[in-house]
Amino acid sequence: MWTEESGGGVQNPLVLLFSGFLDAILPVLQLRAVVGEIFLHELEREGFEDAFSSSTKNYEPPPIPPPITFHAKLLDHPDLPRWLRYIQRTPFQTGYLYGSATSKDIGKQTVEVTAYERYSYETVRQTMIISIVPSPDGEMPYQADFLVKNWNVEEVLPTDIQDLFRQAVDSMWEQEGLTVVNITSALDRGGRVPLPIENRKEGVYIKMGSKDPFTDCLTAAKSPDNLYRCKLEQQPVITCYDSFSPQFTIDWCNLTLIDLTKINTTETMLVYGDGVLEDGSEFNPPEDASDRSFFDDFLLTLLLPFLLGLLLCLLLAYIMCCRWEGVHKRDMKTSDIQMVHHHTIHDNTEELREMAETRDVPRPLSTLPMFNVRTGEMINPLQGSRYDSAQVPLILAQQ
Ligand SMILES: *[C@@H]1O[C@H](CO)[C@@H](O)[C@H](O)[C@H]1NC(C)=O
Ligand SMILES: *[C@@H]1O[C@H](CO)[C@@H](O)[C@H](O)[C@H]1NC(C)=O
Repeated sequence: MWTEESGGGVQNPLVLLFSGFLDAILPVLQLRAVVGEIFLHELEREGFEDAFSSSTKNYEPPPIPPPITFHAKLLDHPDLPRWLRYIQRTPFQTGYLYGSATSKDIGKQTVEVTAYERYSYETVRQTMIISIVPSPDGEMPYQADFLVKNWNVEEVLPTDIQDLFRQAVDSMWEQEGLTVVNITSALDRGGRVPLPIENRKEGVYIKMGSKDPFTDCLTAAKSPDNLYRCKLEQQPVITCYDSFSPQFTIDWCNLTLIDLTKINTTETMLVYGDGVLEDGSEFNPPEDASDRSFFDDFLLTLLLPFLLGLLLCLLLAYIMCCRWEGVHKRDMKTSDIQMVHHHTIHDNTEELREMAETRDVPRPLSTLPMFNVRTGEMINPLQGSRYDSAQVPLILAQQ
């Protein structure tokens, strides 16, 4: 980005000139994200649209709202932080920044969003400072991950839909303080892009967290009986699932129940293999690596094809020199071949001539010369039958 620098340093005068009206900047936003809860920020087109139109006031506004796309990244970095994701279905829809921060992310992170107007290629920039704070209630020890098959991720992100889903879950997992922990598109977890048929959705994973243990209804999905049904690709039959809000089609076989109280006691520490570098360390190539001899490989890769080629060559040479049609004509030079050719023609002519001499019938008219090409003299083919022209040598030069 060539209009990047905003303060300090020597700037290209052109950049200064253009940045004045190309790069509108919206006021800085202060946002808050809580660890263990879904964070959501809507990039509403309207706010950016106004900023665009301020510099294009002289023009007629386009009949339809212009397409706007966004690019979000951590300030001075090429991409977003790991916990934060961005989605915008089409340039005519709202963009969303969403994600679930972990305790490692606590602190402040500055995200820079650039909005592009796709007709004029104007840009508007906005920075937002996200303060990530620990959850006052601590981590939710009981988490259930639902796969909702009939929604796309950006459709469940708006808070009213999140509330709707929370109420639906609440009907089977009754308690206070049910929170949405994480929302992930099924595509990010190995799902497939649906066929472009109406009403097919990508699907979305919604992870709910609670302090209260799972109800029997939820754990019933993991009973041996139901696991067996899932294996047969049948949906488990549990009465309380039927009362789940029909707006959400849940794949009950893909329900994941996470009980953090149990996981913590068994101390699941990540053990990295020796191929993973620690943060900030450098790779030091080993110095005591022994020399490897590649001579055998060299021989194999070079000699084998060479020998094969040689073998084929010899085979071909043998076929070409010794085995061709007419073994008696071996060792013939090109001129010899021409001679043979010539003699063949000559012999055949002689033979034809002999045949003609023994013939009594006159030559067919069509084969008689009508006139002599050299003298131009016309010859009547019928008068010419004084002598049997069949006895005239066919090839004069040969006689
Ligand atoms: C949220 O889901 C994403 C995608 O599955 C995952 O990478 C991330 O670690 C999850 N965050 C939390 C806090 O569970
Ligand atoms: C649902 O879970 C099954 C195994 O339990 C898995 O094979 C399948 O891929 C999952 N479906 C989705 C969309 O994740």
